[in-house]
Parts: sequence; structure tokens; C-alpha cells
Amino acid sequence: MVNPDLGNMAADDSSAVGGISEVPNPNQAMASKSKTPLKTLQRGHEVYMLNCGQCHEYKLPEKIDIEDWEDAMPKMIGHAGLDNADEKAVLAYVKAVKIVKGAM
Ligand code: HEC
Repeated sequence: MVNPDLGNMAADDSSAVGGISEVPNPNQAMASKSKTPLKTLQRGHEVYMLNCGQCHEYKLPEKIDIEDWEDAMPKMIGHAGLDNADEKAVLAYVKAVKIVKGAM
């Protein structure tokens, strides 16, 4: 007899892919360096975490050029169904991360 419980093991496949632990939380130093209000960065970080790993792995700020971020963001905000303010916030956040990490 086959144990019917053996089919239940795949349920916990929800671990984050894409090295998301490398994405820093916004802080005051990041805000000053990027000349962006901390609130905007926090909003951008939140939107990023909630929406940007749904369809593909998280695109890490330092892996993508500023130009390509500016290019991709309107499309991605459309993909995620977000508004213009959130687009600005996410873009500000990824730029700030790049500035802080010196990966311009
Ligand atoms: C509904 C699905 C979906 C969501 C949500 C989504 N994306 Fe994407 N993303 C895609 C698809 C599909 C592509 C590749 C094709 C294209 O450009 O539309 C892509 C491509 C990208 C690229 C360019 C890839 C590269 O390596 O150059 C970046 C950057 C990106 N996404 C960032 C984001 C960010 C940031 C968010 C959150 C605001 C996001 N995505 C949310 C579907 C999505």
C-alpha cells in the first residue's frame, strides 16, 4: 500500500530566490547621499519587496545600469499595476542603493 501522505511534500517551496538579502534597508545615510527623502526610499523599498519579485527573480539594483532601470521601470510599474508615485519611489530607491554601493 502506498502512503497517501507522501504526496504532500512540495508545499513549502516559497523561499525567496535572487539573493534578496543583498537589498539594503533604506536609512538616513542613504537618504543624504542620494539627496532623496528617507520616506521616498522607504516607500520604494516596500514597493520593490512586495511587487518586484513576482514574475522574475528580484533584479538587484547594482546588476542593472541606471539607464536600463529608467527604461524598464515604466513597463514594470505597468506590469505590477502600480501608480506613478510608486514608480518614482522604486526608481529613487534603486538609484540610491547604487549610489551607496558605489556601483554607478
Ligand atoms: C507581472 C509581471 C512582472 C512584474 C510584477 C514585474 N516585472 Fe520586471 N519584467 C517582467 C518581464 C516579462 C520582463 C522582460 C520583458 C519586458 O521587458 O517586459 C521584465 C524585465 C525587467 C527588467 C529588465 C531585465 C534586465 O535584466 O534588463 C527589470 C530591471 C525589471 N523587470 C524590474 C522590475 C521591477 C523593479 C519590478 C517592480 C516594480 C518588476 N520588474 C515587476 C515582468 C514583471
